[in-house]
Amino acid sequence: MIILGIESSCDETAVAIVKDKKEVLSSIVASQIDVHKEFGGVVPEVASRIHVENISYCIEQALAQANVTMDMMDAIAVTKGPGLIGCLHVGVQAAKTLAFAYHKPLVPVHHLAAHIYANELVVDMKYPVLALVVSGGNTELVYMKNETSFEILGQTQDDAIGEAYDKVARVLGLGYPGGPKIDKLAREGKNVYTLAKPKTQGKYDFSFSGLKSSVLQFVKRMERTNQTFDMADLACSFQECALDEIFSRIKVCLDDHPDIRHFVVGGGVSANSRLRERIEELKEQYPNITFTVPPMYCCTDNASMIAVAGTIAYESGRRAGADLTADAGWEIQ
Ligand code: KG4
Repeated sequence: MIILGIESSCDETAVAIVKDKKEVLSSIVASQIDVHKEFGGVVPEVASRIHVENISYCIEQALAQANVTMDMMDAIAVTKGPGLIGCLHVGVQAAKTLAFAYHKPLVPVHHLAAHIYANELVVDMKYPVLALVVSGGNTELVYMKNETSFEILGQTQDDAIGEAYDKVARVLGLGYPGGPKIDKLAREGKNVYTLAKPKTQGKYDFSFSGLKSSVLQFVKRMERTNQTFDMADLACSFQECALDEIFSRIKVCLDDHPDIRHFVVGGGVSANSRLRERIEELKEQYPNITFTVPPMYCCTDNASMIAVAGTIAYESGRRAGADLTADAGWEIQ
């Protein structure tokens, strides 16, 4: 089965062609980071316009790189949501046009589900699965009893972890996107500063806004009192605190659900080198569970994961018609 996937939920226009969930025939990602970094974050209206400019070219490139024609596609998969509504509409409209013009089935895909299914590119997931989705817009622990069931066990009560990385990086003057920059800087620092520990009510829920404010207050206090501080140490202290929040919840979840056979990670923050190290440490404590962190190329937004999710959804019978529309707050499915 060959599926063409289209992703445009945020600031990457991406098109990929994937065969049988495993073989990436082509994957085109047109990133808008250079434009948005001037503004210190993604500007939705600007992002939608750039998607309009890029989408046809990305489709052409994906077909050319894979050396295939539209007639060879079994279906078109597209991110229906969640994401920035104007951005989503561009991908959905392009997918509807292709499906209509070439008489192909149209399969709507959930962006977070796709981040989880990205793991299928490298491994066969064994259910029940516990998935950690950590991105610029989401922080969630999802329990999947089987391939098509999703139960959100925990989620952030305020900021997503990637958002906290980006905001802290802005406070430190590191630029956008902040995640990779803090990741790099933290490797040169030590966890020496005491920051506010996040507080949440739910057993598996997360919170990052208090931690983010704590970094901001720390910097302001230092400036007010004319004291110097070590940026790398602050980056490291923030990162350890944020990851403590994540890992303490994962452990409670794994302990409470002894049936879990596979732990997977998805989303842009899974590219974080310290998070990867800590997963290696966690692995030692749960020898009966398989742990998978997908390779970097499928962690951040891409369309290979949309094609994989589209294949799974297609096999389960999901189809959409010409009335398909984007849904910025679509529930995971
Ligand atoms: O999944 P993604 O590409 O887009 C969505 O939010 O859907 O994730 C982007 C987020 C940004 O917040 C970025 O700062 C963060 O992932 N990120 C990282 C790293 N690489 C990307 N955060 C921490 N460490 C990284 N190495």
